[in-house]
Amino acid sequence: MCVNMYDIVKAEKLTVDVTRLEIAAPQIASKAKAGQFVMLTVDEHGERIPLTMADFSPDKGTITIAVLEIGKTTKMLGALKPGDSLFSLVGPLGLPTELKNYGTVVCIGGGIGLALMYPVVRALKQAGNQMISIIGAKTKELLIYEDEIEKVSDEIHVCTDDGSKGHHGFVSDVLKKLIDDKRGIDIVYAVGPIIMMKVIANMTRPHEIHTVVSLNPIMVDGTGMCGSCRVIVDGQTKFGCVDGPEFDGHKVDFENLTARNRRYLTEEAVSLRKFTGAK
Ligand SMILES: Cc1cc2nc3c(=O)[nH]c(=O)nc-3n(C[C@H](O)[C@H](O)[C@H](O)COP(=O)(O)OP(=O)(O)OC[C@H]3O[C@@H](n4cnc5c(N)ncnc54)[C@H](O)[C@@H]3O)c2cc1C
Ligand code: FES
Repeated sequence: MCVNMYDIVKAEKLTVDVTRLEIAAPQIASKAKAGQFVMLTVDEHGERIPLTMADFSPDKGTITIAVLEIGKTTKMLGALKPGDSLFSLVGPLGLPTELKNYGTVVCIGGGIGLALMYPVVRALKQAGNQMISIIGAKTKELLIYEDEIEKVSDEIHVCTDDGSKGHHGFVSDVLKKLIDDKRGIDIVYAVGPIIMMKVIANMTRPHEIHTVVSLNPIMVDGTGMCGSCRVIVDGQTKFGCVDGPEFDGHKVDFENLTARNRRYLTEEAVSLRKFTGAK
């Protein structure tokens, strides 16, 4: 098959509102590392948005992203089919996950965060760690990347908010039990909704368990020039795109991040209404 740069090679619905896209991008695939993201534009009039690479294959020359359709651009991505092309794709961006043999690592993901967590669990496993994964979603229908994460984990715990699969409750309930059971956790890695990462960081702080979180501030250029992705870490201003996206969860100002991520809510709602034609 002949593919142009940034052609969609495969498009697959994982849930009702999550689409996985495999994209031809040989140069990015040859340099990509776990934890890094790309910035893409769907068409020439579109906005640039950041998406983490859920996989990459230097051999096939492709990268994979999983997209939760929540607004105009992510809905446009969800409608792409094999043979369609992206207008632009830049990456790999951001600092990769710090890979060391820490010992026992607990990786926790929620919702779309599970796609972002998969390459991190795989890379930490390859680095020799004992991997305990805790994965969560609202319902079993919304659980993604369960099989992939299970294959690279030594132990996996599944949680759903409604109890339709695994533990009936939150991922933090399982983490609390592991801590109470004195499982000897050396480091925790969390990616998902801001509230989930904040709860986990608050839980591990008194036990002095180093906790890495992957943040999702609003990004515009993704290369450290515009300042849109400012986050406060340890009282200092950092740029999520070049200093992160992973930071020490015990030092992140989550309230500031939440407030900054809500600053374009009105514009985002208008843009989505215009796109879908809804009143
Ligand atoms: C480093 C990083 C990695 C990410 N990885 C993924 C991923 O793998 N899969 C995934 O589904 N989502 C990911 N996101 C979030 C994704 O970028 C937003 O959901 C997307 O930009 C929303 O665009 P929209 O037009 O569809 O929605 P909009 O209606 O424009 O926005 C909906 C919400 O998305 C967020 N958002 C909007 N624009 C941006 C932007 N330019 N940068 C960051 N957040 C924005 C805001 O919180 C906003 O309230 C990531 C974000 C960051 C910062
Ligand atoms: S997105 Fe512009 S500085 Fe990070």
